[in-house]
Amino acid sequence: MKAYIKTYGCQMNERDSEALAGMLSARGWEITQNENDADLLIFNTCSVREQAERKALGKIMHMKKLKRGREHIIIGVIGCMAQNHGEKLFQELPHIDFVLGTGQLHELPDLVESLREDRKQQALLSNSEAVLTGMGVHLFDGMNSIFGQVAITRGCNRFCSYCIVPYVRGREMSRSEKDVLNEIGELAKHGIREVMLLGQNVAAFGLNGVITPPPDNVSPFGELLAKAAQIPGIERIRFTSPYPTYFTDRLIQVIADNPKICRSIHLPLQSGSNRILKAMNRHYTAEKYLEIVNKLKKAVPGIVFSTDIIVGFPGETEEDFCATRDVMNEVGFDNAFIFKYSPRPGTVSAKTADNVPQEEKERRNQILLADLAERSLAHNRALIGTVQQVLAEGPSSRNPARWCGKTSTAKSVMFAPWEGIKIGDLVEVKIARASSMSLFADNIPDLPEC
Ligand code: 5AD
Ligand code: SF4
Repeated sequence: MKAYIKTYGCQMNERDSEALAGMLSARGWEITQNENDADLLIFNTCSVREQAERKALGKIMHMKKLKRGREHIIIGVIGCMAQNHGEKLFQELPHIDFVLGTGQLHELPDLVESLREDRKQQALLSNSEAVLTGMGVHLFDGMNSIFGQVAITRGCNRFCSYCIVPYVRGREMSRSEKDVLNEIGELAKHGIREVMLLGQNVAAFGLNGVITPPPDNVSPFGELLAKAAQIPGIERIRFTSPYPTYFTDRLIQVIADNPKICRSIHLPLQSGSNRILKAMNRHYTAEKYLEIVNKLKKAVPGIVFSTDIIVGFPGETEEDFCATRDVMNEVGFDNAFIFKYSPRPGTVSAKTADNVPQEEKERRNQILLADLAERSLAHNRALIGTVQQVLAEGPSSRNPARWCGKTSTAKSVMFAPWEGIKIGDLVEVKIARASSMSLFADNIPDLPEC
């Protein structure tokens, strides 16, 4: 029997899908990438933006055809959209067999087994702490990656006014430090060299859901990072996403002291206007954000930043937008995910008119993207002539004669492989050329960029 899992949305969803694949595989399911070949189809969905929901709905609607002549097929909708719309999904998608929310994902294998014996539509939507430990499984079968993901917290308590996550993923819960470290150790034994720690607010790890950031000399998340950096075989540690105000002096010190913690920090800014930040229920000002960035820049030479920005939040004026642009320029982000505001029913900001016209959101989006492209090119060009340490990922998909890898600062580097090089090696290459997307080592011929 074959299972197909399609994932929408964030890295947390990707990680959940991997854990579910691991659980199904342990029960004898073969995981397939081909939807036409599957006996079980699972859609792991996202509700963060309306567009993500619409995309998943369209696809699942289309899956009805697969059941013609193959009635034994089971189709399920899981994750944020399942939690958000619950049993209502059975009206819109009558051909689906189950809806499984975010709080009980670990129940998937049992649910599927019960459906194979007794076909009636089922919705499991309650919350359970068991999901925390239940989701620690990995799909080691046939794994040949050097990258691993570990979810360290689930849910969110911050209630930013535009965001649906606290409603669909529930209250913030942290896993135990011991469980997380064991899981990273297990990944290292399976050849993982770089681990990504995941959570809606990773930096709140170990704080029992309290939303006031800890004192400056405290950071349970920092202590976890410091211990993870000691695990043999793990060469790099990344994390996403931390809420800015949890960057205490202790956390900054841990990052400075441990070069295995990558020198690229994703730090969601959302807006550079204090008025808009307040309306977003983000508990910091642009000045506070810059203070954290500057402390990090001082303590960790060469550190770079990426961010999330929302343009067109209700009431965002040209002046507010310019404030965002100014903060972005001052930080000098290497990368940014720019989102056009979309009201999510049930959130606080959805009660306020979505009054920035779509064309204006698009215009602001394009301006920030253009700033970013210009800056990335300048940053990359500044690295020409330097020697960079790269984690070798293997042949590039575009041109297998070249290998690719990334620097600690998350920059993609193309280089020519040499005798004896292995995937997962940390290698040093000299940068000869740069585009806004990639760096090119001096050992590849000066061919046109591809
Ligand atoms: N509209 C647009 N972007 C949103 N995000 C979250 N909610 C919304 C929304 N309603 C963005 C935020 C967050 C990222 C994951 O998605 O920037 O950091
Ligand atoms: Fe959403 Fe804010 Fe929580 Fe991030 S911190 S998941 S934006 S509520």
